[in-house]
Amino acid sequence: MMVPSSKLRVAVLFGGRSAEHEISLLSARFVVESLDRAMYEPILVGITKSGRWLLQDEAGLLSAARDPQFVTLNEAMPSVFLSPYPGQPGATSVRCPAADVPLAADVIFPVLHGPMGEDGTVQGLLELSGLPYVGAGVLGSAVGMDKDVMKRLLLQAGLPVLPYETLRRKAWLDAPEAALSRLTRLGFPQFVKPANLGSSVGVSRVLALHALESALALAFEFDDKVVVEAGLDHPREIECAVLGGEPARASRPGEITIDHPDGFYSYAAKYVDGAGVVLKIPADLTAEQVASVQRLALATFETLECEGLARVDLFLDQAGALHVNEINTLPGFTSVSMFPKLWHASGIAARELMTLLIDDALRRNARKRARRSSV
Ligand SMILES: Nc1ncnc2c1ncn2[C@@H]1O[C@H](COP(=O)(O)OP(=O)(O)O)[C@@H](O)[C@H]1O
Ligand SMILES: [Mg+2]
Repeated sequence: MMVPSSKLRVAVLFGGRSAEHEISLLSARFVVESLDRAMYEPILVGITKSGRWLLQDEAGLLSAARDPQFVTLNEAMPSVFLSPYPGQPGATSVRCPAADVPLAADVIFPVLHGPMGEDGTVQGLLELSGLPYVGAGVLGSAVGMDKDVMKRLLLQAGLPVLPYETLRRKAWLDAPEAALSRLTRLGFPQFVKPANLGSSVGVSRVLALHALESALALAFEFDDKVVVEAGLDHPREIECAVLGGEPARASRPGEITIDHPDGFYSYAAKYVDGAGVVLKIPADLTAEQVASVQRLALATFETLECEGLARVDLFLDQAGALHVNEINTLPGFTSVSMFPKLWHASGIAARELMTLLIDDALRRNARKRARRSSV
Protein backbone atom coordinates (compact mmCIF):
# COMPACT_ATOMS: atom_id res chain seq x y z
CA MET A 1 0.00 0.00 0.00
CA MET A 2 1.13 3.51 -0.76
CA VAL A 3 2.02 5.92 2.05
CA PRO A 4 -0.68 8.63 2.05
CA SER A 5 1.84 11.49 2.11
CA SER A 6 3.31 10.32 -1.16
CA LYS A 7 0.04 10.92 -2.92
CA LEU A 8 -0.15 13.79 -5.33
CA ARG A 9 -2.54 16.48 -4.11
CA VAL A 10 -4.87 17.39 -6.96
CA ALA A 11 -6.86 20.60 -6.51
CA VAL A 12 -10.04 20.27 -8.55
CA LEU A 13 -11.49 23.70 -9.44
CA PHE A 14 -15.16 23.79 -10.27
CA GLY A 15 -18.29 25.94 -10.36
CA GLY A 16 -17.15 29.31 -11.64
CA ARG A 17 -18.76 32.48 -12.82
CA SER A 18 -20.22 31.34 -16.14
CA ALA A 19 -23.68 30.10 -17.05
CA GLU A 20 -22.22 26.60 -17.00
CA HIS A 21 -21.63 26.73 -13.22
CA GLU A 22 -23.94 23.82 -12.43
CA ILE A 23 -22.69 21.65 -15.28
CA SER A 24 -19.19 22.22 -13.91
CA LEU A 25 -20.26 20.83 -10.53
CA LEU A 26 -21.45 17.66 -12.22
CA SER A 27 -18.23 17.46 -14.23
CA ALA A 28 -16.16 17.89 -11.06
CA ARG A 29 -18.06 15.12 -9.38
CA PHE A 30 -17.16 12.77 -12.23
CA VAL A 31 -13.49 13.83 -12.11
CA VAL A 32 -13.26 13.38 -8.33
CA GLU A 33 -14.96 9.99 -8.49
CA SER A 34 -12.66 8.87 -11.27
CA LEU A 35 -9.32 9.86 -9.71
CA ASP A 36 -7.13 6.91 -8.77
CA ARG A 37 -7.02 7.21 -4.96
CA ALA A 38 -3.90 5.09 -4.71
CA MET A 39 -2.07 7.95 -6.43
CA TYR A 40 -4.07 11.11 -5.88
CA GLU A 41 -5.64 13.00 -3.02
CA PRO A 42 -8.27 15.46 -4.24
CA ILE A 43 -8.64 18.94 -2.75
CA LEU A 44 -11.98 20.40 -3.77
CA VAL A 45 -12.20 24.09 -4.55
CA GLY A 46 -15.60 25.45 -5.57
CA ILE A 47 -15.79 28.88 -7.21
CA THR A 48 -19.05 30.68 -6.49
CA LYS A 49 -20.99 32.60 -9.13
CA SER A 50 -19.62 35.78 -7.61
CA GLY A 51 -16.08 34.44 -7.96
CA ARG A 52 -15.16 33.44 -4.39
CA TRP A 53 -13.00 30.33 -4.05
CA LEU A 54 -14.26 28.02 -1.29
CA LEU A 55 -13.01 24.71 -0.03
CA GLN A 56 -15.62 22.02 -0.50
CA ASP A 57 -15.91 18.66 1.15
CA GLU A 58 -16.05 15.55 -0.90
CA ALA A 59 -19.06 14.02 0.78
CA GLY A 60 -21.05 17.15 -0.04
CA LEU A 61 -20.10 17.12 -3.71
CA LEU A 62 -20.67 13.41 -4.13
CA SER A 63 -24.01 13.38 -2.34
CA ALA A 64 -25.36 16.27 -4.40
CA ALA A 65 -28.09 15.36 -6.81
CA ARG A 66 -27.12 14.61 -10.39
CA ASP A 67 -29.63 17.11 -11.69
CA PRO A 68 -27.92 20.44 -12.52
CA GLN A 69 -30.90 22.28 -11.04
CA PHE A 70 -30.16 20.90 -7.59
CA VAL A 71 -26.40 20.96 -7.28
CA THR A 72 -25.01 23.87 -5.30
CA LEU A 73 -21.81 24.81 -3.52
CA ASN A 74 -21.61 24.76 0.26
CA GLU A 75 -21.09 28.47 0.94
CA ALA A 76 -20.33 27.91 4.63
CA MET A 77 -16.91 26.50 3.84
CA PRO A 78 -13.66 28.48 4.30
CA SER A 79 -12.34 30.52 1.42
CA VAL A 80 -9.04 29.77 -0.27
CA PHE A 81 -6.92 31.69 -2.67
CA LEU A 82 -4.21 30.91 -5.13
CA SER A 83 -1.06 32.95 -4.80
CA PRO A 84 -0.07 34.75 -8.00
CA TYR A 85 3.57 33.76 -7.51
CA PRO A 86 5.24 30.38 -7.23
CA GLY A 87 5.67 28.92 -3.74
CA GLN A 88 7.92 26.02 -2.91
CA PRO A 89 7.21 23.22 -5.34
CA GLY A 90 4.02 21.58 -4.23
CA ALA A 91 3.54 23.70 -1.12
CA THR A 92 1.55 26.63 0.20
CA SER A 93 0.23 27.80 -3.10
CA VAL A 94 -3.36 27.43 -2.07
CA ARG A 95 -3.85 29.10 1.29
CA CYS A 96 -6.73 29.47 3.66
CA PRO A 97 -6.32 33.04 4.95
CA ALA A 98 -9.07 32.83 7.58
CA ALA A 99 -7.44 30.11 9.58
CA ASP A 100 -4.04 30.74 8.05
CA VAL A 101 -3.70 27.06 7.43
CA PRO A 102 -1.79 26.59 4.23
CA LEU A 103 -3.29 24.01 1.97
CA ALA A 104 -0.94 22.50 -0.50
CA ALA A 105 -1.65 21.32 -4.01
CA ASP A 106 0.78 19.67 -6.39
CA VAL A 107 -1.33 20.01 -9.50
CA ILE A 108 -4.50 21.86 -10.47
CA PHE A 109 -7.34 20.30 -12.42
CA PRO A 110 -9.61 23.10 -13.65
CA VAL A 111 -13.05 21.71 -14.42
CA LEU A 112 -14.58 25.03 -15.40
CA HIS A 113 -16.66 25.60 -18.51
CA GLY A 114 -17.21 28.83 -20.42
CA PRO A 115 -15.97 32.38 -19.79
CA MET A 116 -13.84 32.99 -16.66
CA GLY A 117 -12.66 29.40 -16.60
CA GLU A 118 -12.21 27.93 -20.05
CA ASP A 119 -11.07 31.14 -21.74
CA GLY A 120 -7.55 31.65 -20.40
CA THR A 121 -8.45 33.86 -17.43
CA VAL A 122 -8.05 31.18 -14.76
CA GLN A 123 -5.19 29.67 -16.77
CA GLY A 124 -3.34 33.00 -16.43
CA LEU A 125 -3.58 32.78 -12.66
CA LEU A 126 -2.50 29.13 -12.71
CA GLU A 127 0.44 30.09 -14.90
CA LEU A 128 1.51 32.77 -12.41
CA SER A 129 1.21 30.32 -9.53
CA GLY A 130 3.80 28.12 -11.20
CA LEU A 131 1.77 24.99 -10.48
CA PRO A 132 1.18 22.33 -13.12
CA TYR A 133 -2.38 22.35 -14.43
CA VAL A 134 -4.48 20.16 -16.67
CA GLY A 135 -5.55 21.41 -20.09
CA ALA A 136 -4.82 24.22 -22.49
CA GLY A 137 -2.70 27.20 -21.50
CA VAL A 138 -3.63 30.88 -21.76
CA LEU A 139 -3.32 31.15 -25.53
CA GLY A 140 -5.09 27.94 -26.53
CA SER A 141 -7.89 28.60 -24.05
CA ALA A 142 -8.46 32.17 -25.23
CA VAL A 143 -8.30 31.30 -28.92
CA GLY A 144 -10.61 28.32 -28.44
CA MET A 145 -13.20 30.54 -26.76
CA ASP A 146 -13.28 33.23 -29.45
CA LYS A 147 -15.16 31.84 -32.44
CA ASP A 148 -13.89 34.61 -34.71
CA VAL A 149 -10.18 34.27 -33.91
CA MET A 150 -10.54 30.49 -33.89
CA LYS A 151 -11.96 30.48 -37.42
CA ARG A 152 -9.32 32.89 -38.71
CA LEU A 153 -6.58 30.51 -37.56
CA LEU A 154 -8.36 27.44 -38.92
CA LEU A 155 -8.82 29.15 -42.31
CA GLN A 156 -5.18 30.14 -42.38
CA ALA A 157 -4.27 26.50 -41.79
CA GLY A 158 -6.47 25.47 -44.71
CA LEU A 159 -8.98 23.61 -42.53
CA PRO A 160 -12.61 23.45 -43.67
CA VAL A 161 -14.65 26.14 -41.94
CA LEU A 162 -18.06 27.42 -43.08
CA PRO A 163 -18.18 30.91 -44.60
CA TYR A 164 -18.79 33.51 -41.91
CA GLU A 165 -18.74 37.20 -41.12
CA THR A 166 -17.81 38.99 -37.92
CA LEU A 167 -19.86 41.96 -36.80
CA ARG A 168 -18.79 44.30 -34.02
CA ARG A 169 -21.29 46.28 -32.02
CA LYS A 170 -19.97 49.62 -33.26
CA ALA A 171 -20.23 48.64 -36.94
CA TRP A 172 -23.77 47.41 -36.32
CA LEU A 173 -24.84 50.64 -34.61
CA ASP A 174 -23.05 52.92 -37.06
CA ALA A 175 -24.19 51.30 -40.31
CA PRO A 176 -26.91 48.68 -39.84
CA GLU A 177 -27.95 48.64 -43.50
CA ALA A 178 -24.41 47.96 -44.68
CA ALA A 179 -24.06 45.22 -42.06
CA LEU A 180 -27.33 43.55 -43.09
CA SER A 181 -26.42 43.52 -46.76
CA ARG A 182 -22.98 42.06 -45.95
CA LEU A 183 -24.54 39.33 -43.80
CA THR A 184 -27.30 38.54 -46.31
CA ARG A 185 -24.64 37.44 -48.79
CA LEU A 186 -24.07 34.38 -46.59
CA GLY A 187 -27.52 33.11 -47.61
CA PHE A 188 -30.07 31.43 -45.35
CA PRO A 189 -30.35 29.65 -43.03
CA GLN A 190 -27.58 31.31 -41.10
CA PHE A 191 -26.42 31.02 -37.51
CA VAL A 192 -25.87 34.07 -35.33
CA LYS A 193 -23.61 33.55 -32.31
CA PRO A 194 -21.96 35.67 -29.62
CA ALA A 195 -18.22 35.31 -30.33
CA ASN A 196 -17.19 34.33 -26.80
CA LEU A 197 -19.69 31.98 -25.25
CA GLY A 198 -20.81 28.37 -25.26
CA SER A 199 -23.72 26.04 -24.49
CA SER A 200 -25.60 27.61 -27.43
CA VAL A 201 -26.39 30.64 -25.25
CA GLY A 202 -27.45 33.53 -27.50
CA VAL A 203 -27.24 31.36 -30.65
CA SER A 204 -30.06 31.70 -33.22
CA ARG A 205 -30.89 29.87 -36.41
CA VAL A 206 -32.08 32.55 -38.82
CA LEU A 207 -34.19 31.45 -41.77
CA ALA A 208 -34.82 34.81 -43.45
CA LEU A 209 -33.68 38.43 -43.41
CA HIS A 210 -36.62 39.67 -41.32
CA ALA A 211 -35.45 37.55 -38.37
CA LEU A 212 -31.82 38.61 -38.55
CA GLU A 213 -32.11 41.86 -36.62
CA SER A 214 -33.62 40.30 -33.52
CA ALA A 215 -31.06 37.48 -33.63
CA LEU A 216 -28.26 40.05 -33.73
CA ALA A 217 -29.83 42.00 -30.87
CA LEU A 218 -29.93 38.82 -28.79
CA ALA A 219 -26.30 37.91 -29.55
CA PHE A 220 -25.15 41.48 -28.77
CA GLU A 221 -26.69 41.14 -25.31
CA PHE A 222 -23.94 38.63 -24.57
CA ASP A 223 -20.93 40.00 -26.42
CA ASP A 224 -19.63 43.04 -28.31
CA LYS A 225 -18.59 40.78 -31.17
CA VAL A 226 -20.94 38.48 -33.07
CA VAL A 227 -20.20 35.75 -35.58
CA VAL A 228 -22.69 35.07 -38.37
CA GLU A 229 -22.17 31.84 -40.19
CA ALA A 230 -23.60 30.18 -43.31
CA GLY A 231 -25.94 27.52 -41.96
CA LEU A 232 -26.07 23.90 -43.01
CA ASP A 233 -29.40 22.18 -43.41
CA HIS A 234 -29.61 19.62 -40.60
CA PRO A 235 -25.98 18.49 -40.70
CA ARG A 236 -24.83 15.43 -38.77
CA GLU A 237 -23.02 16.63 -35.63
CA ILE A 238 -19.82 14.65 -35.12
CA GLU A 239 -17.55 15.04 -32.08
CA CYS A 240 -14.02 13.80 -31.53
CA ALA A 241 -12.01 13.89 -28.30
CA VAL A 242 -8.32 14.76 -28.31
CA LEU A 243 -5.69 14.02 -25.68
CA GLY A 244 -2.52 16.10 -25.75
CA GLY A 245 0.91 14.55 -25.50
CA GLU A 246 3.68 13.41 -27.75
CA PRO A 247 1.98 12.69 -30.02
CA ALA A 248 -1.55 13.95 -29.38
CA ARG A 249 -4.22 11.33 -30.10
CA ALA A 250 -7.80 11.41 -31.29
CA SER A 251 -10.62 9.21 -30.02
CA ARG A 252 -13.17 7.33 -32.06
CA PRO A 253 -15.76 9.88 -33.23
CA GLY A 254 -19.22 10.09 -31.72
CA GLU A 255 -22.40 11.65 -33.03
CA ILE A 256 -25.19 13.69 -31.50
CA THR A 257 -28.61 13.34 -33.07
CA ILE A 258 -31.13 16.02 -32.27
CA ASP A 259 -34.87 15.85 -32.58
CA HIS A 260 -35.96 19.17 -31.11
CA PRO A 261 -38.41 21.89 -32.23
CA ASP A 262 -35.54 24.45 -32.30
CA GLY A 263 -34.13 22.55 -35.28
CA PHE A 264 -30.57 22.58 -33.94
CA TYR A 265 -28.57 21.74 -30.81
CA SER A 266 -29.90 24.75 -28.92
CA TYR A 267 -29.59 25.61 -25.22
CA ALA A 268 -33.05 24.12 -24.68
CA ALA A 269 -32.08 20.90 -26.46
CA LYS A 270 -28.84 20.71 -24.44
CA TYR A 271 -30.11 21.45 -20.94
CA VAL A 272 -33.85 21.96 -20.70
CA ASP A 273 -35.64 19.28 -22.66
CA GLY A 274 -32.87 17.06 -23.86
CA ALA A 275 -35.10 14.05 -24.44
CA GLY A 276 -34.64 14.37 -28.20
CA VAL A 277 -30.86 14.34 -27.93
CA VAL A 278 -29.12 11.01 -28.40
CA LEU A 279 -25.38 10.31 -28.24
CA LYS A 280 -24.25 7.65 -30.69
CA ILE A 281 -20.89 6.21 -29.73
CA PRO A 282 -19.17 5.36 -31.93
CA ALA A 283 -20.70 7.35 -34.76
CA ASP A 284 -21.84 5.35 -37.77
CA LEU A 285 -19.11 6.42 -40.21
CA THR A 286 -16.98 4.70 -42.82
CA ALA A 287 -13.35 3.98 -41.94
CA GLU A 288 -12.37 6.73 -44.34
CA GLN A 289 -14.70 9.25 -42.64
CA VAL A 290 -13.34 8.26 -39.21
CA ALA A 291 -9.81 8.89 -40.42
CA SER A 292 -10.82 12.30 -41.81
CA VAL A 293 -12.55 13.31 -38.59
CA GLN A 294 -9.53 12.29 -36.53
CA ARG A 295 -7.12 14.08 -38.85
CA LEU A 296 -9.21 17.27 -38.70
CA ALA A 297 -9.58 17.04 -34.91
CA LEU A 298 -5.82 16.73 -34.40
CA ALA A 299 -5.07 19.50 -36.91
CA THR A 300 -7.60 21.76 -35.16
CA PHE A 301 -6.07 21.00 -31.76
CA GLU A 302 -2.58 21.82 -33.01
CA THR A 303 -3.53 24.86 -35.08
CA LEU A 304 -5.29 26.42 -32.09
CA GLU A 305 -2.26 25.86 -29.81
CA CYS A 306 -4.21 23.59 -27.48
CA GLU A 307 -2.76 21.30 -24.87
CA GLY A 308 -3.96 18.59 -22.54
CA LEU A 309 -7.41 17.84 -23.83
CA ALA A 310 -10.17 19.11 -26.08
CA ARG A 311 -13.31 18.07 -27.85
CA VAL A 312 -13.50 19.06 -31.50
CA ASP A 313 -17.00 19.39 -32.95
CA LEU A 314 -17.58 18.95 -36.66
CA PHE A 315 -20.48 18.99 -39.08
CA LEU A 316 -20.96 16.38 -41.77
CA ASP A 317 -23.17 17.97 -44.41
CA GLN A 318 -25.68 16.21 -46.61
CA ALA A 319 -23.21 16.11 -49.49
CA GLY A 320 -20.74 14.24 -47.28
CA ALA A 321 -18.29 17.10 -46.61
CA LEU A 322 -16.82 17.72 -43.16
CA HIS A 323 -16.57 21.19 -41.60
CA VAL A 324 -14.87 22.07 -38.32
CA ASN A 325 -17.42 23.86 -36.13
CA GLU A 326 -15.56 24.53 -32.90
CA ILE A 327 -13.21 23.35 -30.20
CA ASN A 328 -13.99 23.05 -26.49
CA THR A 329 -10.85 23.19 -24.40
CA LEU A 330 -12.57 22.06 -21.17
CA PRO A 331 -15.35 19.83 -22.44
CA GLY A 332 -18.09 18.48 -20.21
CA PHE A 333 -17.03 15.69 -17.88
CA THR A 334 -20.37 14.59 -16.49
CA SER A 335 -21.36 10.95 -16.47
CA VAL A 336 -23.34 11.57 -19.67
CA SER A 337 -20.72 13.71 -21.42
CA MET A 338 -19.21 12.92 -24.77
CA PHE A 339 -15.54 13.39 -23.82
CA PRO A 340 -15.19 10.59 -21.24
CA LYS A 341 -17.55 8.36 -23.20
CA LEU A 342 -15.51 8.73 -26.40
CA TRP A 343 -12.33 7.74 -24.56
CA HIS A 344 -14.09 4.86 -22.91
CA ALA A 345 -15.14 3.66 -26.36
CA SER A 346 -11.54 4.10 -27.50
CA GLY A 347 -10.17 1.86 -24.74
CA ILE A 348 -9.29 4.45 -22.08
CA ALA A 349 -11.44 4.20 -18.97
CA ALA A 350 -12.12 7.20 -16.74
CA ARG A 351 -9.48 6.35 -14.10
CA GLU A 352 -6.71 6.04 -16.68
CA LEU A 353 -7.96 9.15 -18.47
CA MET A 354 -7.52 11.25 -15.31
CA THR A 355 -4.03 9.84 -14.80
CA LEU A 356 -3.05 10.63 -18.40
CA LEU A 357 -4.33 14.20 -18.05
CA ILE A 358 -2.44 14.78 -14.79
CA ASP A 359 0.75 13.20 -16.18
CA ASP A 360 0.53 15.51 -19.17
CA ALA A 361 0.16 18.54 -16.86
CA LEU A 362 3.23 17.48 -14.86
CA ARG A 363 5.27 16.84 -17.98
CA ARG A 364 4.47 20.25 -19.48
CA ASN A 365 5.22 22.02 -16.22
CA ALA A 366 8.58 20.26 -15.89
CA ARG A 367 9.48 21.29 -19.42
CA LYS A 368 8.52 24.88 -18.66
CA ARG A 369 10.69 24.92 -15.55
CA ALA A 370 13.61 23.60 -17.54
CA ARG A 371 13.37 26.49 -20.00
CA ARG A 372 16.01 29.18 -19.90
CA SER A 373 14.47 32.34 -18.46
CA SER A 374 17.38 34.77 -18.50
CA VAL A 375 19.54 36.17 -21.27
N1 LIG B 1 -23.24 26.76 -39.47
C1 LIG B 1 -24.12 25.94 -38.85
N2 LIG B 1 -24.92 25.13 -39.58
C2 LIG B 1 -25.82 24.31 -38.96
N3 LIG B 1 -25.96 24.24 -37.62
C3 LIG B 1 -25.19 25.04 -36.85
C4 LIG B 1 -24.23 25.92 -37.42
N4 LIG B 1 -23.60 26.57 -36.43
C5 LIG B 1 -24.15 26.13 -35.28
N5 LIG B 1 -25.12 25.22 -35.52
C6 LIG B 1 -25.96 24.57 -34.50
O1 LIG B 1 -25.91 25.34 -33.30
C7 LIG B 1 -25.27 24.60 -32.25
C8 LIG B 1 -24.45 25.52 -31.37
O2 LIG B 1 -23.47 26.19 -32.14
P1 LIG B 1 -21.96 26.22 -31.68
O3 LIG B 1 -21.19 27.00 -32.68
O4 LIG B 1 -21.48 24.84 -31.41
O5 LIG B 1 -22.03 27.07 -30.35
P2 LIG B 1 -21.67 26.71 -28.81
O6 LIG B 1 -20.24 27.09 -28.64
O7 LIG B 1 -22.59 27.56 -28.03
O8 LIG B 1 -21.89 25.24 -28.63
C9 LIG B 1 -24.50 23.51 -32.98
O9 LIG B 1 -24.28 22.39 -32.15
C10 LIG B 1 -25.44 23.21 -34.14
O10 LIG B 1 -26.55 22.42 -33.73
MG1 LIG C 1 -21.06 23.71 -29.71
